[in-house]
Amino acid sequence: MKRGNSVVLIGFMGAGKSSVGRLLAQKTGLARFDTDELVVAKLGQSIADIFKTRREAEFRLAESDVLAHLVGQPPGIIVTGGGIVLRPENVALLKKLGVIVSLEADEETLFRRVSRRDTRPLLRTKDPRATLHELFVARAPLYHGAADIRVDTSQLSHDQVAIEILRRIETL
Ligand code: S3P
Repeated sequence: MKRGNSVVLIGFMGAGKSSVGRLLAQKTGLARFDTDELVVAKLGQSIADIFKTRREAEFRLAESDVLAHLVGQPPGIIVTGGGIVLRPENVALLKKLGVIVSLEADEETLFRRVSRRDTRPLLRTKDPRATLHELFVARAPLYHGAADIRVDTSQLSHDQVAIEILRRIETL
């Protein structure tokens, strides 16, 4: 595997990063680091409350900060928030950490998945489907551009995605 030895999961909300990250940690024995969880611990508030009381800019600062602290840690499975690719300096750090795996799915599938839970502040708008479309169009090229490996998760279970990632990493 090239660069650092971590496996970094990126992708849109609902791509399955958290669930697949847990499975990869189980399968590889590597520690799991989740930037959302680290931001919540750092700021002492839920993601929803951070967006409500501090606004997105502060969330993004904290997100970059926790990411910078992962460089130099032992290799692990690194789960990121969907907006991590918005800052080019974050992408540069992710590349230092290891192999970047982009979990992808078509918009309808993502919308179906995110609609199951009301935990994403960015989608709490009058028209969440239209918001998702706007974010998807803006971000898809960023995920593609950063990725070493792209996995279409639309038709796969989390376990199948994890197995596919491990298989693809072997071929790098
Ligand atoms: C965000 C995605 C969320 C979380 C925050 C912002 C985004 O993580 O970081 O709500 O900008 O797409 P998930 O991708 O795990 O939902």
